[in-house]
Amino acid sequence: MTIDQCSNRKQETATPTVGNSPHPDSSTEILDTLSRPLRDLRISVTDRCNFRCTYCMPKEIFGPNFTFLPQRALLSFEEITKLVRLFARLGVTKVRLTGGEPLLRRDLWRLIEMIGTIDGIDDIALTTNGSLLTAQLAHTLKSVGLRRVTISLDSLDDEIFMRMNDVAFPVAKVLEAISYADSAGLTPVKINMVVKRGGNDQRILTMAEHFRGTPYILRFIEFMDVGNSNGWRMNDVVSAKQILSTVGQKWPLEPLLSDQRGEVATRYRYVDGQGEIGIIASVTRAFCSGCTRARLSSEGQLYTCLFAGSGSDLRTLMRNGADDEEIIDVLKNIWHVRSDRYSQLRTEATPHLPKIEMSHIGG
Ligand code: GTP
Ligand code: 5AD
Ligand code: SF4
Ligand code: SF4
Repeated sequence: MTIDQCSNRKQETATPTVGNSPHPDSSTEILDTLSRPLRDLRISVTDRCNFRCTYCMPKEIFGPNFTFLPQRALLSFEEITKLVRLFARLGVTKVRLTGGEPLLRRDLWRLIEMIGTIDGIDDIALTTNGSLLTAQLAHTLKSVGLRRVTISLDSLDDEIFMRMNDVAFPVAKVLEAISYADSAGLTPVKINMVVKRGGNDQRILTMAEHFRGTPYILRFIEFMDVGNSNGWRMNDVVSAKQILSTVGQKWPLEPLLSDQRGEVATRYRYVDGQGEIGIIASVTRAFCSGCTRARLSSEGQLYTCLFAGSGSDLRTLMRNGADDEEIIDVLKNIWHVRSDRYSQLRTEATPHLPKIEMSHIGG
């Protein structure tokens, strides 16, 4: 069974949705088969990363002999900008730059500046491992239009963090990056912790304690069966329920309303006023019914789900000279027939279906 067949197996009744903000070209707003609008575009700018997180790019697969995309295969900044402009006409308001590690892409600030000029795009964010974020770079990125960053950090304990990033990268450097982002105003800075049983699950409380009472928003992410290389097993997933009970027993929590439609994290505030946390529970509490996200890989393939088995080749379309209206038609057609809801349909069999790797399309 393919993912696409899988996503068609059951029919869901979804409530028609209304956008967050008025859009310049709302006449062309499109809905998929589950009445979900297209709002977020997540763009992977490189498939490379300087980390080898065991849950994402395990060394045994992404080793010295692994072939990454050559430079010419990547969409240029001009090509990406052209696509974002067209996506904005279809309702996209939010762009997130990802990788691999997006800061490995040379002069990324230029792309941010270019996207910043597009009408309708009101939020540009970046997901990074923080390893290359200096104080100066954080200021540059902010000055050209980046609004906020999310930084991955799986533990405050060097031994555990280094075992998980598998390149001996120290915690202190990531903490520095977090403060550089904050000082530059790339706020709110969110911290992503992927929780893996037997890996860092004993560090949930230490992480919560460290970030309580700070402006940083810690999000606990359930380990997902994304891609086919991370050896995912349900037994390794620490559920949202377990995470919440661990944190809540020590520091009582209460639910917060979600910030905006399509947000992946469920938010909770500490009852004692020491800030908030988020839980991203793709495995035990699927959030597909509000999924307004499309993903563009660095070589220009468009994916309509994080767990997709195949994408649509926009690079060839563009390089063959398609004009804006032709590309818009292609994008509309892709979104119109979209029925993805992998997380809602996950079974014991689905983790084995062929899927795109996370490092190829970002988180
Ligand atoms: P904001 O709401 O804009 O702050 O961003 P975000 O929560 O989408 O940010 P981020 O990129 O940090 O996403 C957090 C994590 O949620 C990702 O790294 C993924 O692990 C997971 N995630 C994001 N989008 C999806 C999705 O569409 N499906 C699933 N299953 N997981 C997702
Ligand atoms: N499960 C959950 N989250 C993952 N990420 C990468 N791989 C996985 C996985 N298998 C997260 C990273 C980062 C974001 C880009 O995606 O930790 O925060
Ligand atoms: Fe790199 Fe992020 Fe994947 Fe880790 S999770 S290997 S930092 S892309
Ligand atoms: Fe969206 Fe696919 Fe994630 Fe569901 S599993 S929320 S459809 S990306």
